Amino acid sequence: MAATIKIAVLRERAAGESRVSATPETVKKFIALGASVVVEGGAGAGASIGDDDYRVAGAEVVVADAAKDADIVLAVQGPEAELLTAAKPGAWVVAGLDPFSRRDRVDAYATAGLEALAMEFMPRITRAQSMDILSSQSNLAGYKAVITAANIYGRAFPMMMTAAGTVSAAKAFIMGVGVAGLQAIATARRLGAQVSATDVRSATREQIQSLGAKPIFVESVAGIEGEGAGGYATEMSEEYQKAQAELVSAHIAKQDIVITTALIPGRAAPRLVSDAQIATMKPGSVIFDLAVSQGGNVEGSVADQVVEKHGVKIVGYSNTATHLAADASALFSRNLYNFLSAFWDKEQGKPVLDEEIGNAIRLTQGGKVVNERLLG
Ligand code: NAI
Repeated sequence: MAATIKIAVLRERAAGESRVSATPETVKKFIALGASVVVEGGAGAGASIGDDDYRVAGAEVVVADAAKDADIVLAVQGPEAELLTAAKPGAWVVAGLDPFSRRDRVDAYATAGLEALAMEFMPRITRAQSMDILSSQSNLAGYKAVITAANIYGRAFPMMMTAAGTVSAAKAFIMGVGVAGLQAIATARRLGAQVSATDVRSATREQIQSLGAKPIFVESVAGIEGEGAGGYATEMSEEYQKAQAELVSAHIAKQDIVITTALIPGRAAPRLVSDAQIATMKPGSVIFDLAVSQGGNVEGSVADQVVEKHGVKIVGYSNTATHLAADASALFSRNLYNFLSAFWDKEQGKPVLDEEIGNAIRLTQGGKVVNERLLG
């Protein structure tokens, strides 16, 4: 009989982080697999989950040293290595580890002999869809961006015909149609806006149309064929960027709401909206820059602030999903459970990774940084 493995759920330390990496539902499921679970006191508070809820689910709740003797440490954002000194040698750290910006922390995990697994490096393959934190969190972020923009906008989204006159529908433009952008389109449509959207990947054209929005695409220069490698975009040529800037200039002046979501993995977010373009928009318009923490798609956007430029309000949260902490935590926690349970080896009583996913997400092992995306 294999020894019971211990899973530790940490309280998040990062400013403004309200999510948690396990819910009572996933705690119960981990225990059903044969693990024991320790939760750091207060870990669920930001997501409206009390310590007692975790106890009822079968976890032990501790005030200090939650990672002590843990085989697997779960977190939303990467915990500092100093918090993990009492974990078992070679313990797994399973979280969104922000490997490119926090290389220092990755090195510290290696030095501490931990095996760090970056959930944002999960490959985009069918069997890993249910483990993908980027998708689950981006979907909520796309929704929240539209709701927040609608709240700040001094006008209504739907057309309304009233005895006092007609209110015209808001025009919303979604830039970047990945997971967040698709949800932003759907949400803006549900609220009654007239929606248009753009992307560099040609496969998104049909997706935009299927949601009842109007595709606005660069036609003169070829973009990325189909879905793009792994569903990701790359940096575009100068020629494309110039054509895109002209297209945006012609379109954006008529928009009331702009939601930007464009990202390129491992690079700064592409600049899609310039200050000069903002100056052509109507006063009172609202831009939500979902890429603000990766450098921003919009010139002048500032994380967690509403900045006003030329009468246009520019908004961006550094961590949008945390503003829907309960749902975001439930989905994030399920991503982690789906991942660990898919690899659970009954005989060994612990998860054992295969090469495809293991090599993609493993950052450190045996005291070294081992991930090729960090070594290149
Ligand atoms: P992302 O967050 O990396 O980027 C957001 C969007 O911005 C993408 O659609 C990208 O093409 C677009 N973009 C990048 N540069 C741009 C530019 N200069 N101008 C305009 N748009 C630009 O992408 P996300 O949302 O993570 O996923 C993209 C696609 O990947 C999804 O639509 C889906 O098809 C696929 N996917 C597959 C998964 C799986 O099979 N497990 C999981 C997640 C996504």
